This record gives sequence, structure tokens and C-alpha cells, in this order.
Amino acid sequence: MAIITYSSSVDDEANALEVWPPMSKTMSIAGDQKRPYITELVLQRDLDRRRKASVHVIEAATQGYATPKVQRALLLHGLRQPYELTNAHAIPTTVTDNEMIVRVLSIGLNPVDWKSVLWVRHPALPYVAGRDFAGMIVKYSSSISGLREGDIVLCASTDYRDMRKAAFQEYAVALEHNVCKLPEHVSVAQGAAIGVAYVAAALALGVCLGLRLPRLGAAKDLDLREEVWTLPPESIPADVRAECLQTREEDQRPHPGQYLVIWGGSSTSALFISQLARLAGLKVILVVDVAKHGARLSTMGWNFLVDSQDANRAVEVIRGITGGRLRFAIDTVGPKTASCLARCLMHDSLTPGHLVALAALPKEPSADGVVYHSVPMKLFHEVPGVGRALMAWLQQALAASAIELPEVTCVKGGLSFVNGALDQMRRGEVSGRRIVVSL
Ligand SMILES: NC(=O)c1ccc[n+]([C@@H]2O[C@H](COP(=O)([O-])OP(=O)(O)OC[C@H]3O[C@@H](n4cnc5c(N)ncnc54)[C@H](OP(=O)(O)O)[C@@H]3O)[C@@H](O)[C@H]2O)c1
Repeated sequence: MAIITYSSSVDDEANALEVWPPMSKTMSIAGDQKRPYITELVLQRDLDRRRKASVHVIEAATQGYATPKVQRALLLHGLRQPYELTNAHAIPTTVTDNEMIVRVLSIGLNPVDWKSVLWVRHPALPYVAGRDFAGMIVKYSSSISGLREGDIVLCASTDYRDMRKAAFQEYAVALEHNVCKLPEHVSVAQGAAIGVAYVAAALALGVCLGLRLPRLGAAKDLDLREEVWTLPPESIPADVRAECLQTREEDQRPHPGQYLVIWGGSSTSALFISQLARLAGLKVILVVDVAKHGARLSTMGWNFLVDSQDANRAVEVIRGITGGRLRFAIDTVGPKTASCLARCLMHDSLTPGHLVALAALPKEPSADGVVYHSVPMKLFHEVPGVGRALMAWLQQALAASAIELPEVTCVKGGLSFVNGALDQMRRGEVSGRRIVVSL
């Protein structure tokens, strides 16, 4: 068991965020809740000053240590309602060795966090939502992963059916293969903005399209399609098996120099899709509101920006640039824009065009010579080998600063600020950045 202390001179408790659970220093050090207090104290000091201080994890015999039993969390009681803050939600517990408890420090908000309030059926009510977070591992006993208590990690919590893993709470369960240790130069807030968008990007490119993610540092190329094909088929969740095992043919994969078009090129997922694709040698065309995003995106050296305001014109421009031979496209917006993208693709039954939809596929069935794909997100949490490979590649990319991270707007103040931030997203007021709520 670990007690976490600082060796730095950071001693500014006045600047600390709220103390939770509330208790006096004397009480906590003398009492049997020694560790929660010390952990909390460190976490307060940690947050973004972690970079200035060094954290030491000291193994210590802390007999009598008691985990707090309850925490703050946001609960959804019914559809179309705001999330309600409670101070007395049970802290989730781990059930297997490959699970850990993470003290959530920052929550990254995703479109699904406000959309799910409107129309998704929840596995149970009240429901705890939230898909992206970063924080400190406070309980983890396994040694298989090289992770340990005190590590700062990001977690993409794609398993929405398991509320223990949700982000809108102070302590969350995370699977060892769904977390990535953050290097010192990536802030906790930035870390919280990466997970789901990166995983969706990597699975869309790697599994649906078969793109090999290039080797970074000591790591090998990441060939997710091959990784999936070498699994026993029954270990792939049944509802995504067909998507994962569509083809193994080499000529169905994108190759360096070929085009990839991303409609909704200003989204966070598109930021990752485009960078991974470019690292692998593809030429990327982004369809965006150029008046709004052109200045920012053109400094990143994209091959082409196509304005999205007139969709028919955008289709013509894309056909012109690609000479009518486009084979790979990803939509991050919705069925109408996905349908436009399908019109940009080459229709050829021998070398078909491939369209991946992150939000929704076109309403009309695919034409001959065009294959539709949906992202098999489940692979990430249900197939440990896939999750681990994705997190290992990300860790290398972050360590090497090989990918640019989303711009974040940090909201300090805790869970009670989540509803307001989601309303802003719903109203379309958040553009080209992620909102991150710090606890
Ligand atoms: N299948 C999955 O598991 C999965 C995983 C990740 C994401 N998703 C889905 O993928 C979508 C994108 O997610 P995200 O987190 O990347 O979104 P995001 O960062 O919130 O960005 C959404 C972007 O879409 C752009 N957009 C909206 N309408 C557009 C149009 N007609 N043409 C061009 N761009 C348009 C917006 O641009 P403006 O700022 O110009 O309005 C905005 O930048 C969401 O629907 C999300 O739910 C699904």
C-alpha cells in the first residue's frame, strides 16, 4: 500500500482546491483515514503544479487504512434531465486484478455526454456518465502492467454499461489496458481531452480501414487489423465481429500517398485521425468551415482544406482534387455529411471505396463498390490486447510529442460545472477545442 508525498517545497495550501473528504490535518494524520487525507492533500497540490514538483510514492505499512466509502458524483435520474450532484454516491470497487481505482482530477467532455441525456437508453437509472478522465491511480495491486499507485494516467472509459468506470465521479474504476501514463510534459487537463477521440481515430483507421500506425521510437508498427485477425473469432464481441473481420486483403488498405477525406475536420476526433493518417504517409483533405477554422488549421500544414458551407460544392472540389479516385473517407458529423462523403468515393467492386462514420452512417444503403464501416469501440475495453496496444502507441506518441493535442478550455470548480459546460456544447458554442472540468 502506498502513501504519496511531495518532496518539493510547494506548500501553498491556500491555493489548494477543495479538500475532500473534509477533515482536519490532525484528525487525518492521527486517525485511520490517514491515506485518504494525504492522497487528497497531494492531489490538491498536484493538479497542474505536478510539473513543478516531484512525486514520490513511498511504500509504507498503513495498517488500519480505510478507503472512503462515499464520494461526489453526478447522477442522471431520467432522460432530458440535468445531471444531479450527490455527495453520497458509493465509491466503486474493483473486482478483478486488472482493474484499478483512479482519483479523477480532470474530466474531458465529449458530445456523447450531452447527447446521451437526450436519447440513449441507459443500462440503469440513476446513471453515472462521462467517458474521458485523467487522474491519479490510488489503488492498484497488480504488477503486470508496470503501472503503480501514484501514477498520473488518462483513461478512455468506453465501457458505458459499467457505471463504475464513468468519469462524472471522484473515484472511478479503470481497466489496466484502458489507461495511459502521462509523461511529465502533458498536463492532467490535456490528458483528459485525449482518450475517446484518440481511440475512435485509431480504431477507425487501424481496424475499419486497415491503416498501419507507424512505428514510434522503439515500438513496432501498430497493425490493428492483423492484431484482430489473429484473435480467436469468439474473443471478438459478436456485434462488432463482422466489422473487424471484413477483409484481410493487402490491396484494401490505404497506402502512403493515397488520400483520406475527413468531413468534420475541426473535431477533436478529426485532429487525431488526420495526424495519425499523415504520420502513416496519407494525404489528408479536411472538410471544415474554412472561415472559422482555416487560420488555425492552415498553420498545421494540412494538405487541403475544403469549405463545408456548400456541401454539393465540397463534393465537387473533393472529386476534383482526388481525380475521382478517392477510396478512404471518415465522417465525424452525421448522416447527411456521411452521405456527401459517400458520393465522393470511387465506386469499384474490385477496389471499393470505404466510408467510416463516427456519428452515424448515411440513411441510404451503400452503393455497389462502397463499403460502410462503424467504429468497433468495444474492442478497446473488451479485448485487452487491442486496448493495451492502443495505449502503448499513445504513450510513445505523447512521450515523443509526435502528435499535437487538442486545445482545451479548463473549467475549474468541479462536478457542479459539468451541466453548464454540456449546455454550451449542445448549443454549438464549443468549437475546435475540448472543455475539461477540473475537480
Ligand atoms: N462511435 C464512437 O464511439 C464515437 C467516438 C468518438 C466520437 N464519436 C462521435 O463523433 C462525433 C465527433 O466527436 P468529437 O468529439 O470529435 O466532436 P467535437 O470535438 O465536439 O467536434 C465536433 C465538430 O464537428 C464540426 N461540425 C459540425 N457540423 C459540421 C458540418 N456540417 N460540417 C463540418 N463540420 C461540422 C464542428 O465544427 P464547428 O465548430 O465549425 O461547428 C465541431 O468542430 C460526435 O458525434 C461523437 O459523438 C463517436
